[in-house]
Amino acid sequence: MVKEEWIKKGYVDEPIDETVDLKAGIRALCKEKNAVIMAHYYTEGEVQDVADFVGDSLALAQKAAATEADIIVMCGVHFMGETNKILCPDKTVLVPDLNATCSLAESCPADKFSDFVKAHPDHTVVSYVNTTAATKAVTDVVVTSSNARQIVESFPKDAKLIFGPDKNLGGYINSLTGRNMLLWDGACHVHEKFSVEKILKLKEEHPDAKVLAHPECKGAVVKLADVVGSTAALLRFAIKDEAQEFIVATESGILHEMQKSCPNKKFIPAPPEDSTCACNECNYMRLITLRKVYNCLKYEWPVIEVDAEIAAQAVKPIRRMLDISAELGL
Ligand code: 13P
Ligand code: SF4
Repeated sequence: MVKEEWIKKGYVDEPIDETVDLKAGIRALCKEKNAVIMAHYYTEGEVQDVADFVGDSLALAQKAAATEADIIVMCGVHFMGETNKILCPDKTVLVPDLNATCSLAESCPADKFSDFVKAHPDHTVVSYVNTTAATKAVTDVVVTSSNARQIVESFPKDAKLIFGPDKNLGGYINSLTGRNMLLWDGACHVHEKFSVEKILKLKEEHPDAKVLAHPECKGAVVKLADVVGSTAALLRFAIKDEAQEFIVATESGILHEMQKSCPNKKFIPAPPEDSTCACNECNYMRLITLRKVYNCLKYEWPVIEVDAEIAAQAVKPIRRMLDISAELGL
């Protein structure tokens, strides 16, 4: 039974016997319940290590759409759980902590975005996957940072497009494609914070290092990067490139998989502007701990639910994204 105090906290807060090996316990629960664990690259390394699949936003949606498991544990943020639930309405989708939201998704409230869309009735609406289900419900096609350029380019050159909510990603895609999409004024509090000065200083100290940046970063950071891409694209580049050192301007959780894949290369997290910390973490992603993963599997809560009417609308732009991505081999 779901306890009142769990509902207040947003996660299962039950003591776990100290003798329990959390990783082994999680794997045993997955087997018993036919559950699959998916994790985003920004979660804690130990959470990524216990997952069946670790990926970027596009790959996580593609995996969810194809899974035969009865339960999906989405180790990531709330909108990722919603996307999974919309794609798999008959499955139980769990996110281990309901407080794991996303500043970018929250920068685009559905009612205000809907007013913006209504004010431009001749525009097609392209929304980044980092949005709530309700915002997706007023969207024509969803994109991720892995397919945004190609999906925008699939529209005629003179198509009138709205892009929300990330102004940085939208501005970057405008610059790549020569489009002039109307941009919603939203941003991610993690990616906005990278310091150009501190990255330049790191480049002086590591002259052979290449700079990897996520397109959610500010334009000034993107400009000084050697490669710009989704987390999966940055990882692929780090694996295949001959450089031995990389300065990484995205959430520092990705360094876990980079270092695992390339044990002999050096990965240096790009620091944020306003703190003495060397790396930049998403406080929402970091709410997902092994204890919460174990407890959410054990008690099958917190469950993600999406209002049926919203889901019926939101599934269309998500499916459209998956179909275009499949056609393009992404
Ligand atoms: P990707 O992994 O798709 O690049 O997404 C980054 C992100 O901010 C997820 O919240
Ligand atoms: Fe949202 Fe930014 Fe965290 Fe990604 S890193 S989940 S965009 S707040």
